[in-house]
Amino acid sequence: QEHPKSVIVIFGATGDLAKRKLFPSIYHLVQNEKIGKEFAVVGVGRRPWTNDEFRHNVSDSIQTSIKESKDLDDFTSHFHYHPFDVTNPSSYLELNDLLTKLDSTYQTEGNRIFYLAMAPEFFGTIAKNLKKEGLTATKGWSRLVIEKPFGHDLPSAQTLNQEIREAFNEDQIYRIDHYLGKEMVQNIEVIRFANALFEPLWNNRYISNIQVTSSEVLGVEDRGRYYENSGALRDMFQNHMLQMVALLAMEPPIKLTTDEVRSEKVKVLRALRAVSEDEVSDYFVRGQYASGQLDNKQLIGYTEENNVDKKSQTETYVAGKLLIDNFRWAGVPFYIRTGKRMAAKSTQIVVQFKDIPMNLYYKKGENVPPNLLVINIQPDEGITLQLNVKKDGDAGDSKPVKLDLSNNFQDGINTPEAYEKLLYDCMRGDATNFTHWDEVSLSWSFVDPISDAWKKGKAALAAYPSGSMGPKESDEMLEADGNQWWPVN
Ligand code: BG6
Repeated sequence: QEHPKSVIVIFGATGDLAKRKLFPSIYHLVQNEKIGKEFAVVGVGRRPWTNDEFRHNVSDSIQTSIKESKDLDDFTSHFHYHPFDVTNPSSYLELNDLLTKLDSTYQTEGNRIFYLAMAPEFFGTIAKNLKKEGLTATKGWSRLVIEKPFGHDLPSAQTLNQEIREAFNEDQIYRIDHYLGKEMVQNIEVIRFANALFEPLWNNRYISNIQVTSSEVLGVEDRGRYYENSGALRDMFQNHMLQMVALLAMEPPIKLTTDEVRSEKVKVLRALRAVSEDEVSDYFVRGQYASGQLDNKQLIGYTEENNVDKKSQTETYVAGKLLIDNFRWAGVPFYIRTGKRMAAKSTQIVVQFKDIPMNLYYKKGENVPPNLLVINIQPDEGITLQLNVKKDGDAGDSKPVKLDLSNNFQDGINTPEAYEKLLYDCMRGDATNFTHWDEVSLSWSFVDPISDAWKKGKAALAAYPSGSMGPKESDEMLEADGNQWWPVN
């Protein structure tokens, strides 16, 4: 197995993401021998840190997140810090000198990853300057990794995209959606396309509806300033949730190549039925957490959080009903919900199959429960299949049972974290699990009328108690279709 070689430049290296996710991921990649000795990491930030301070921070981050931490000194010796001013050209020239030097020390063959993990207002400036000051002109490859948010609506995303495209080609740009790095999100494709049992039924003849839930227990924490301008729609729905829908609904790709997979996902997003501003309240529910209780702890409401407007109208919960107007999915609702301060941390997909044509086991007004395929993404990973079997002793009566494949197919305890997989993919030049510009733009086109309608007050903001599963309006939306949310695990 050949090790990819690269210098990884992290903009925002003193920040939270670098500390919580990126450093431990790189460490894992080295420990798991996915990358060898030919790598260096350059931390770039405004703070005037020394190499030692930076290495100390890296080593801290690894010790906090990983219990076993061997060879740490050797590992952190690959890390270098460069104090930096994003708007100053000479900062870039100095950085370039450092990268050239490290390239020869670590034999990284001129390969460079520029990872933007910082305030999005600088994404465009940095990308342009990297090219202008010659940092992308090496004998190896240069790639740009870019964290969300990718704009806050279609026009701002287009502007940002034009800026970065002045410096990087589409195939050099790796837009991160960390949900695409999750083991069970990557498993959607395999469950669908490697099983004779599911794919023939995966359409509007046999599926009644599909539900995607991503609920969090945490509130807005210390991110009030960001979240006030984002809300659940932009923070979770536009990216993570729509990406899962695309994977669930896409046609089988001809091959598993980046272009083929992405183009099938794009087709799903193109087939999403647009919701006009006036229809938004028929298809979407927005909610905001009020005070409440969870595990005997009293929790404050969203408007009492730090850096949040006392009269904030920002949604911390969104539920939507999506329709995909194509041959496979016509008439099948995709119900999506995500929110903060809910009863459980869970990301789960439920595929509800249609009832059988004639029900021999109908009793006392109760239908036989439908077959459900549940894909558990987190915290537990696995799939369960709800079937009906004979009720013990009672002839002519049935009961639901669950075939539970949780944990059974894990290869080991060390399933790599999303960021680890994505970083490795980027080093190998595999962009399949990153979002293409067409996906980003179509997602914003779908989402913009919804946030516009909300901004104009066209739908009420429903309060829900912290620690609950969201506002009752969301349940009512499904009830109106004769459906219900299935409980999360
Ligand atoms: C991020 C959002 O993209 O995803 C956060 O900005 C959210 O608000 C997080 O908490 C959820 O990710 P995960 O992996 O914990 O489900």
